Amino acid sequence: MENSYVWTERYRPKKFEDVTGQHDIVRRLKALVEQKNIPHLLFSGPAGVGKTTLALVIARELYGDDWKQNFLELNASNDRGIDVIRNEVKDFAKTKGLANIPFKLILLDECDALTKEAQQALRRTMETYSSSCRFVLSCNFVNKVIDPIKSRCAIFKFKPLRKEDLIEIVKKITKDEGLVVNESTITRLYELTGGDIRQLQNVLQSCASTSKTITEKEIDEFASKNESKDVKEIVILALNKKFILARNKLLDTMLNNGLSGIDILKQIQREIMELDITDDKKLGIIERCGEVEFRLVEGANDNIQLEALLAYIARN
Ligand SMILES: Nc1ncnc2c1ncn2[C@@H]1O[C@H](COP(=O)(O)OP(=O)(O)O)[C@@H](O)[C@H]1O
Ligand SMILES: [Mg+2]
Repeated sequence: MENSYVWTERYRPKKFEDVTGQHDIVRRLKALVEQKNIPHLLFSGPAGVGKTTLALVIARELYGDDWKQNFLELNASNDRGIDVIRNEVKDFAKTKGLANIPFKLILLDECDALTKEAQQALRRTMETYSSSCRFVLSCNFVNKVIDPIKSRCAIFKFKPLRKEDLIEIVKKITKDEGLVVNESTITRLYELTGGDIRQLQNVLQSCASTSKTITEKEIDEFASKNESKDVKEIVILALNKKFILARNKLLDTMLNNGLSGIDILKQIQREIMELDITDDKKLGIIERCGEVEFRLVEGANDNIQLEALLAYIARN
């Protein structure tokens, strides 16, 4: 393992064999890589489940030691727009790869953050460079990706890791780092993080910095310290009709803690019950939470939906 300070990197699998869970996906990708000719790939799924990791594994398997010269990682959600992406692809595609594989690999993360028009431009770029480049597109929601892109890619739907996968990952880390973590702690970690391994590793690393023995108590303290306080403040700001402040704090909290819309929503729902407001008001907000949750699962935009919820709280 690379001796990175950050555990998410230190424990990032480098070979197909080291990837935990996602068996079906690993099996299919492995077969493609063995033929040394892969189609464009579209990875969809929630955060921290191995999308970027598997793109990197593919690069290592295809190009061996030369993988870095043959691999370009771009993020579509930076506000640099499709033109910047296009230029970077152009520059990268221009120079010939070093390995005996006739194409290079480009990982474009969060491609569902691009507008429909930008996705059209991306599709044309993919076509222009299809003889010299293969794209691995990653997204959270496959239904936000336009059909002409989907139809050009082999699609892989990633799921959150299962509890048994999570246990395996935690056991490996605890062994390497000399931590003491029991079963109920792992259960708590699973409840807190879902199957998001990035979040899991970050929580573990934070807790381990103060104590080698990690119990449910440490996990709960970490979780509440970092999130509930912020979320509570956001809700209270909204209840006091300070919408702009609530909204700004919402965006900060999501960004700083790497939380998804669903994570925040679950906490808002929990916090509402604790607040000193009328039952009627609680019911109205809880009902709204249900609606927003449905929309988020269907692929609606996190920020827009949560801001709409805050607007509702502020007005009622
Ligand atoms: N299937 C997995 N097996 C083992 N570790 C994983 C797996 N998925 C994610 N991880 C861990 O979580 C981190 C983040 O995963 P990544 O692949 O970057 O997530 P994303 O799906 O958001 O691209 C990795 O660096 C790795 O440490
Ligand atoms: Mg990623």
